[in-house]
Amino acid sequence: MNRIVAGNWKMHLGPQAGYDLAVALANRIPDLQGIEVVVAPPFISLAAVRQGLQGSHIKLAAQNVFWEKQGAFTGEVSAAMLREAGCQYVIIGHSERRQLFGETDVGVNRKVCAALNNGLVPIVCVGETLAERDGGETAAVLERQVTRALLALTTDDIKRLVFAYEPVWAIGTGRAANVQMAVEVAVAIRDLVKGLFPDSDSIPVLYGGSVNPENAAQFASRPEISGALVGGASLQADAFTEIVRAFYKER
Ligand code: 13P
Repeated sequence: MNRIVAGNWKMHLGPQAGYDLAVALANRIPDLQGIEVVVAPPFISLAAVRQGLQGSHIKLAAQNVFWEKQGAFTGEVSAAMLREAGCQYVIIGHSERRQLFGETDVGVNRKVCAALNNGLVPIVCVGETLAERDGGETAAVLERQVTRALLALTTDDIKRLVFAYEPVWAIGTGRAANVQMAVEVAVAIRDLVKGLFPDSDSIPVLYGGSVNPENAAQFASRPEISGALVGGASLQADAFTEIVRAFYKER
């Protein structure tokens, strides 16, 4: 199973700055056996970043998708449009979308279905808040998010799907989960999926939340963790490249 290191640029870098970072990454990151490198710029920068990545093996992702094919849905973008723009992956259900934009488990599931139907690999984000962890609800929250995200999917679909465990309290806080915690949840998610789809292969589970060049090797050293979803540190070419290398070295 390939490992995946994905950069979620969030609402940073317009077309020009996105192009520049894409070129810098393309120059720094060669084709690394066993590692998929992915960047997720804002919609508006997808075309420029695609251009900047030309000739490299770095893949393009979107940060969101809408489930309808087309129509009167102001401000939304369909999965087919993302494919046409060169995306191979799409991040779905990021905690910022769940918390700030009212995204629900039902919506996440519809987006996952739309992505799969259009040949995009969904990177489905799940994770508990600090209150939920402190309240001992982590397992229940993850079970709910994972189960609902996968509603009506087939074993075949599961082959083309990635989870990212992103504890909400670790995102953008500089306070990453400890590695043991991340491993435990990665294993739990994998077991949950296996329980729902007994014939499926083991599913990739990335870790996200304050991953940086200093702590990447710890996460990378654990085979249960299939890669990283990186926010802040993915905006700097050197930092992101170091994280990619850490996962390559420890693969
Ligand atoms: P940070 O790496 O900035 O904590 O963000 C993580 C994240 O949300 C990636 O999707």
